[in-house]
Amino acid sequence: MKAIILKEAGGVEKLELMDIAIPAIKHDEVLIQVKAISINPVDIKTRTGKSLYDELKSRNEPIILGWDISGVITEVGSSVTTFKKGEEVFGMINFPGHGKAYAEYVAAPASQLALKPSNISHETAAVATLAALTAWQALVTHAKVSKGQKILIHAAAGGVGHYAVQIAKHLGAYTIGTSSAGNRDFVLSLGADEQIDYKTQRLEDEVNNVDFVLDSIGEATIDSSVAVTKKRGTVIFLPSGISDEKLKKLNSNGVNCYRILVKSNGDDMKQIAGFLEKGIIKSNISHVFPFEKMAEAHLQIETGKTKGKIVVTV
Ligand SMILES: NC(=O)c1ccc[n+]([C@@H]2O[C@H](COP(=O)([O-])OP(=O)(O)OC[C@H]3O[C@@H](n4cnc5c(N)ncnc54)[C@H](OP(=O)(O)O)[C@@H]3O)[C@@H](O)[C@H]2O)c1
Repeated sequence: MKAIILKEAGGVEKLELMDIAIPAIKHDEVLIQVKAISINPVDIKTRTGKSLYDELKSRNEPIILGWDISGVITEVGSSVTTFKKGEEVFGMINFPGHGKAYAEYVAAPASQLALKPSNISHETAAVATLAALTAWQALVTHAKVSKGQKILIHAAAGGVGHYAVQIAKHLGAYTIGTSSAGNRDFVLSLGADEQIDYKTQRLEDEVNNVDFVLDSIGEATIDSSVAVTKKRGTVIFLPSGISDEKLKKLNSNGVNCYRILVKSNGDDMKQIAGFLEKGIIKSNISHVFPFEKMAEAHLQIETGKTKGKIVVTV
């Protein structure tokens, strides 16, 4: 099968298209013929030697980046009772571990997958994985956002943000999203009650008394995110760069501040599948790349300006 191997940490030229053996599955896994793959900022960070690179390198096996897929089951492990050959599934595979998604076939634990709703495409499903799971786990599992709360979503036009706004609205929260002016209409179209232009408006002048902030920016927004949150409110940070010491200091202000890391979870995927099927959330795909143009997909995510999601078709 064709797969893209990361030879070593570096630029996009380190991504090499190769022919390798189709992976063997374990008893609790299924083999998926991949139709579409989604790319996230963590793919780029890992490619350049940050994030999960050292962990993957330490496994002494060829590094195949990527975690998000949608495809068709071609083989089922001996103990798998939940899926059958021929079914269409999607999910985020083995995160934060070795997902090996940049390939024509992926071995995936059945417990991390959901059936792809028949009324959405593989492209639409593939992108609603790491980004959608992050939004779901932040808002529902961790912050337990509820009806009537006021919440702020940074980078509301991005991968995580555009799902977070839609989920927040479904939960009944008053939702404010930040973006540049060019994405104002997009953010409002997702259901946001207000949009703030982070380039021209100062957060503290526009918002206060927020119950919950989803901060995917870090550094530039840490202090203002906490400043606009009410006492006993919550700020969840997605970037890993915020030190424990800094978090401890922020927590001393009476605001509950912490980092989260998204985790593969089939039950959460099933919730997302249900939302997609009913049209409660929609995936906005701004660019589609063929498998051979993976480098271009990486360069698009590296701009930090992606609207919604991008997808690679196999
Ligand atoms: N901890 C975790 O488990 C976890 C999970 C997922 C993602 N993350 C991290 O969260 C971050 C966001 O991920 P993503 O997939 O949503 O990224 P993304 O799709 O690449 O985000 C792009 C968006 O960010 C917006 N943006 C850039 N700078 C901004 C700023 N200062 N204020 C507001 N919006 C800004 C851009 O909007 P404009 O073009 O309008 O500027 C663009 O739409 C990444 O660092 C990622 O690694 C962490």
